[in-house]
Amino acid sequence: MTDQTITSVSRESRIFKPSAEFKNQANLGSFESYRRLYSESVNAPDKFWDKQAKKFLSWRKPFSSVLKWKAPHAKWFSGGQLNVAENCVDRHLGTARANKAAIIFEGEPGDTRTITYKQLHREVCQFAHVLESLGLKKGDRAAIYMPMIPEAAVAMLACARIGAIHTVIFGGFSSEAIKDRVNDCQAKLIITADGGWRRGKVIELKSNVDRAITGTPTVQSVVVFKRTGSPVTMTPGRDLWWHDLVAGASTTHKAKAFESETPLFILYTSGSTGKPKGVLHTSAGYLLGTAITSHYVFDLKETDVYWCTADIGWITGHSYVVYGPLSNGATVLMYEGAPNQPEPDRFWQIIDKHSVSIFYTAPTAIRAFMRWGDEYVKKHSLASLRLLGSVGEPINPEAWMWYHNLIGKKRCPIVDTWWQTETGAIMVTPIPGVTPTKPGSCTLPFFGVVPKVLDEHGNEVPKNAGGKLFLTQPWPSMLRTLWNDDDRFKKQYWNEIPGLYFCGDGARKDKDGYLWVVGRIDDVLNVSGHRIGTAEIESALVSHPAVAEAAAVGRPDELKGQSLVVFVTLKGTHTASEELKEALRAHVGKEIGSLAKPDQVRFAAGLPKTRSGKIMRRLLKELATSGEIKGDTSTLEDFAVISALKQDEE
Ligand code: PRX
Repeated sequence: MTDQTITSVSRESRIFKPSAEFKNQANLGSFESYRRLYSESVNAPDKFWDKQAKKFLSWRKPFSSVLKWKAPHAKWFSGGQLNVAENCVDRHLGTARANKAAIIFEGEPGDTRTITYKQLHREVCQFAHVLESLGLKKGDRAAIYMPMIPEAAVAMLACARIGAIHTVIFGGFSSEAIKDRVNDCQAKLIITADGGWRRGKVIELKSNVDRAITGTPTVQSVVVFKRTGSPVTMTPGRDLWWHDLVAGASTTHKAKAFESETPLFILYTSGSTGKPKGVLHTSAGYLLGTAITSHYVFDLKETDVYWCTADIGWITGHSYVVYGPLSNGATVLMYEGAPNQPEPDRFWQIIDKHSVSIFYTAPTAIRAFMRWGDEYVKKHSLASLRLLGSVGEPINPEAWMWYHNLIGKKRCPIVDTWWQTETGAIMVTPIPGVTPTKPGSCTLPFFGVVPKVLDEHGNEVPKNAGGKLFLTQPWPSMLRTLWNDDDRFKKQYWNEIPGLYFCGDGARKDKDGYLWVVGRIDDVLNVSGHRIGTAEIESALVSHPAVAEAAAVGRPDELKGQSLVVFVTLKGTHTASEELKEALRAHVGKEIGSLAKPDQVRFAAGLPKTRSGKIMRRLLKELATSGEIKGDTSTLEDFAVISALKQDEE
């Protein structure tokens, strides 16, 4: 039998205790309260979630049971009825929040708009009427292919309001991607815009829809929001302008109540192979998961201006731009464009301009900022910030320290939140003001989450040993199935160890029970008989002053099983040289041990990434092994990177 154990080599030992100042004002003020609530949440989950569901959500009809669990299928809050849009919008109207900003919008060209909860309500109501007038009914699917503008949130909430299922397709995807997704869920309607602004150019959304729609027989209408004013072709009888449709629509709309398990949305996420998976989330459980995590993890207060930089096309945009913060009545900032438009300090300028207090972004963005240079940050005060967050990948300890020092000015807690499209909401995370943090660790489980690091026999591995990460108890915001593919749902997530949710990641727990995610299991390297997570080698490389980003992959090797090839991009002032290669090998040897010294160091101008910023190690592995890339590149963000890499080949 092959040894499946993962050797974990990280030696990070820095620890940051919460400041008294943050702790005194935090929504959850003490580690004891965390322990007590956590223990109740996992030992008496029905009691815990019963209480939280009543605290965080407004019900039209109370639920009669908390959880019906027949692995892997869950029914949460059966018998209960609510309306998700009403929870995100209407219920704030009778309160002091009615005239509070729900969304502050900053367009890439610099145009801004503030939409209060009252205004958001009017817009959602009007658009709900529009959808109904176009024949969209409960359970029907609508695709949303829009830029990061408030109308994207309005469209999502209007679907939710009438019980229709939305599927948001990231605005950077091609017409092929639209076609596949629309056909898979048989959408009746596409909601789009003429275009959106990105790096000073118009992304032509409507023409992409036009190309897709020749192969999507289920689509009856296309609603087009005018954002850029660029010319588009409107097909009579099918294509309709948003502004024409809402012009005559009533600004009030009587929302129906829906059963807790009413499907809310399908979000397609790329599998490692084959066609995208349509992750299905339903209403009450999902909303509760996003609402409660927003409250505790982001420590939301009435006065906060909260900014999550994720696009609405990703789960992070769904959960932490729309549903989580709005159900809490927060003020959400939405930015349409690129972080380096017109200059690499655009984010910092926006933070100062709108007094952003909570900032949630991804490690890939943080590493880009580091690479662009500290001077862009130092031009701005960032004094309004009080809390920082990270999501999407393991954050390298050096990137964490940079974020802490340069952006958080050593005063803002960092919440490194581990979760997935499938989990719906944050699963493992520090609670700010409560959990001491360690750079690179997503720390401890959120309420109701039981993560276990197991070997292939289902036994828990010893402390600090690597293994596969499972979630062993159901949670309210869990995916319910894959759209039209329950078999794949069962095989993909519930087969590794029957009855337990396998998330696909490798991880270890340290002596304090803190979790360290070491990367996707598919990416784990096998060097001289040691299985090592990519994240650990990459973090060692990133801790060298010359390195901006790194990707580690294995190449078959007769002697060692796999030899270790690393691709490295350098920070602005550094240049590639043989000496630097040697220095990097020595550096990894010093940081981790000689077993992890790369056999080959390759400098690259850029690394291939998915559109959400994750490094595509699979492609680099192919390149390192065969010198060619033949595998699926449909999720690749920038094709130029691949040709540049090939040219760089020695
Ligand atoms: O590998 C983990 C990584 O991203 C995966 C989930 O990707 P996706 O479904 O696109 O959702 C991203 C936004 C939630 C995970 O399986 N990941 C996400 N957050 C972290 C992370 N890895 C380490 N630390 C994190 N904080």
